[in-house]
Amino acid sequence: MTNTVYEQAETAAEFIRTRVARSIDAAVVLGSGLGAFADTLTDAIHFPYSEIPGFPVSTVEGHSGRLVVGQLAMSPNTEKTIAAMQGRFHFYEGYEMEQVTLPMRTFGALGIKKLILTNAAGGVNPAFKQGSLMLIRDHINLMPVNPLRGKNDTRFGPRFPDMTEVYSRRGGELALRCAKAMGLELNEGVYLALQGPNYETPAEVRMARLLGGDAVGMSTVPEAMVARHMNLEVLGLSLITNAAAGVAEGSIDHNEVMAMGQQVSGQFIELLQRILKEW
Ligand code: HPA
Repeated sequence: MTNTVYEQAETAAEFIRTRVARSIDAAVVLGSGLGAFADTLTDAIHFPYSEIPGFPVSTVEGHSGRLVVGQLAMSPNTEKTIAAMQGRFHFYEGYEMEQVTLPMRTFGALGIKKLILTNAAGGVNPAFKQGSLMLIRDHINLMPVNPLRGKNDTRFGPRFPDMTEVYSRRGGELALRCAKAMGLELNEGVYLALQGPNYETPAEVRMARLLGGDAVGMSTVPEAMVARHMNLEVLGLSLITNAAAGVAEGSIDHNEVMAMGQQVSGQFIELLQRILKEW
């Protein structure tokens, strides 16, 4: 019989635990073009996904595919231990939702209580500037498979989990405060998830807007749902790499999406550091 997701997560967590002496304070998932944050962690241990038992291997360009566990320097002589994913698993790559969200289950098994999910997204709200950031206040799940589908394992959480506050209000206020201290504009809005891998048609983007979406993307929502199933506190940040299809002139190109990540990398790293220090 194949292992349950619970056992898979325990096995992956045990693998990490035996190589990391300290307990991990928070986890971060770094979206397309945003992986550089992990390189700022000190005394880092790198875990290529291919080496973590049970983990699938990421296939998308720009996702290097490893977990980095390292230290974030705080005020003198204090540090926090952070686990940062450089690259994530997407449903559009062909993975099952259990595989897409196994890292979150692993974070749960490691006893991590705080999770920051980041992504590159298309701006549906016409007021959002290209290269700006959006704090995810809520989401709309239009992915075709629910990550919580199937027999519920009550060791993770309840059959019918509450989704009233997927994205922590407290975490959101903290993010807004940190952005303000940096003089950085931080939009707020609803992230609408589609499976991809194609970018949307203009008609689909108009639908997203009508439904209440401010940004569209192809990730994050399954991870957020699974994290909330385990009662982790979740914070979500989208980098608006482009106006979504039809919101502005021109077409959408993956290389431009990646380039935008590099362009805002410095500010993005600082925002993450500030949030993680105070959280
Ligand atoms: N749509 C969906 N996902 C995205 C986009 C987009 O326009 N830009 C970056 N990720």
